Amino acid sequence: AAIAKYVTPLAVPPVMPSVSSADDSADQYVIGVRQFRQQILPSGSPATTVWGYGSVRHPWTFSSPAFTVEATADRPVRVTWVNELVDRDGNYLPHLLPVDPTLHWANPPGGASGRDSRPVFTSTPGRYRGPVPIVTHLHGGHNSDDSDGYPEAWYLPQARNIPAGYATEGSQYATFATRFANRDGAPWSPGSAVFRYGNDQRAATMWYHDHTLGMTRLNVYAGLAGFYLLRGGPSDLPSPVLPGPASRVGDPVNRRSCEIPIVIQDRSFATDGSLHYPGSREDFDRFAGPYIPGSDLSPIWNPEFFGTAMMVNGRTWPFLPVEPRRFRFRFLNGCNSRFLELKIVTNPVAKRPVAAALPFWQIGSEGGFLPEPVELGRLLLAPAERADVIVDFARLPAGTELYLINEAPDGVFRGDARAAPADPATTGQVMKFVVRAPAGRDSSVAPDQLTLPSFTPLGSATKTRKVALLERNSAVISGAGPTAVLLGTIDGHGTARMWSDPITETPAVGAIEVWEIHNFTMDAHPIHVHEVLFQAVDRQPFARIARPPERWEKGYKDTVIAYPNEITRIKVMFDRAGLFVWHCHILEHEDNEMMRPYRVEG
Ligand code: C2O
Ligand code: CU
Repeated sequence: AAIAKYVTPLAVPPVMPSVSSADDSADQYVIGVRQFRQQILPSGSPATTVWGYGSVRHPWTFSSPAFTVEATADRPVRVTWVNELVDRDGNYLPHLLPVDPTLHWANPPGGASGRDSRPVFTSTPGRYRGPVPIVTHLHGGHNSDDSDGYPEAWYLPQARNIPAGYATEGSQYATFATRFANRDGAPWSPGSAVFRYGNDQRAATMWYHDHTLGMTRLNVYAGLAGFYLLRGGPSDLPSPVLPGPASRVGDPVNRRSCEIPIVIQDRSFATDGSLHYPGSREDFDRFAGPYIPGSDLSPIWNPEFFGTAMMVNGRTWPFLPVEPRRFRFRFLNGCNSRFLELKIVTNPVAKRPVAAALPFWQIGSEGGFLPEPVELGRLLLAPAERADVIVDFARLPAGTELYLINEAPDGVFRGDARAAPADPATTGQVMKFVVRAPAGRDSSVAPDQLTLPSFTPLGSATKTRKVALLERNSAVISGAGPTAVLLGTIDGHGTARMWSDPITETPAVGAIEVWEIHNFTMDAHPIHVHEVLFQAVDRQPFARIARPPERWEKGYKDTVIAYPNEITRIKVMFDRAGLFVWHCHILEHEDNEMMRPYRVEG
């Protein structure tokens, strides 16, 4: 049966409670990862078993998306991230979703992690039943490498009963810590890691999510994501200049809040309410998209995932009562693979494309405020991109209903205007706004009158580095087996590089570089570089002239769309030595070799 739309109010993630501590120099959190049930589908439908983050001393805070970490500019945050994926008897919980042990993945019980380190796989897909490694990344954070959530620095929960064959230490974090340039975090202890975020960066909409090697797509799909909002300092513009207030501590559903973070994620559900994620290539074909001819090398991993339902802040197709005034929405595309093209319209099932009923005024992107507000009828968001926008519902009569729709395709995104838009009956709809009178006083400034905080561009680059995006058959890479799509990253010399190959990108600390991302694949890929915020320079179709970045790409970014058959140029300043990664943020790609380490040499 179809899932009823617009029957559940939008959930606004409340603020994550901090914990008090003798050390007053930082905000302290103890954030666990647990398994629990959540009513994602409308009430009356079965609840869904998910994973989520929460404050371990406040069991009611566990939710997906997580409660929001509210951070203050230049005031450090210390988080003890605890893997609590154990059952009540102290046994390891197995993964909710089908793990593909043929990928280069975390592969507990540790030792040398790697494609060939553990011959676990046969042509019969055996389901991995072992413990679940996690490691959390603060996406958009400007942090030292030991707190960045390096994909191999994962750790297992501290279980009471550890089955034979599983390392008691259960962590690669301790091993990898020796490779980090920094020692800001506290020493590793079983089941947890302490990460420190300096918050020495511009006010911005960040998010935190799992980043475990080869299973990020599964851990995030299971629910491990939340907002991290950095406020304050000269790069911020608070309420009441902008619409507010934001939701507050101890105020789980503050319906008066006019500043709302909104994460959009596509999901598929089985009839019992459980999350569906394909467990084989064939399954992918039936449920969610194109079939890639099967392979006996990787029969579980799928090149992309496209769900059949839209979930917004952890509820399918919610509605939001709004007053006739301005609202500030911080949109995040939290989908595994799906690009979004959002519009506000009056008729959600109208034939696409639909004319916008209200504009978005975009004021910020991943790295904080834009140089100036940009009026847009449509918002394009690749996975992991954020758009901070103002929407003005003023002068709309009470009872007006408006819909947030999605016109990007139900499949890979190529930036091709002829691609069929998402199904208007399902994934072509996202949420509904219902205007309710009366409005509270709105003292926010109209977006066309707004002066945003001053913006300082990066200086000139001293080096140009060519990197490239490729798709390769596993046959080409491994020299064996029938066709499978595998994603790789090469350097400028045409050599395919795997995750485990030696590091080739080694910018000097303090260097400003232009990275030319040559996309030789058929699809657009959202490319994310850790630790830095960069500027989009231009995009150049192969053998043609370059065009400037889009109007909404003039601020600092941490994720950029690289279109097929184009060079996408970004300018990056590397200001901290350490071991980091850059990768495609299509999580299925990231999990299968479309990720490379890089090292800033100090
Ligand atoms: Cu949002 Cu490397 O990740
Ligand atoms: Cu990709």
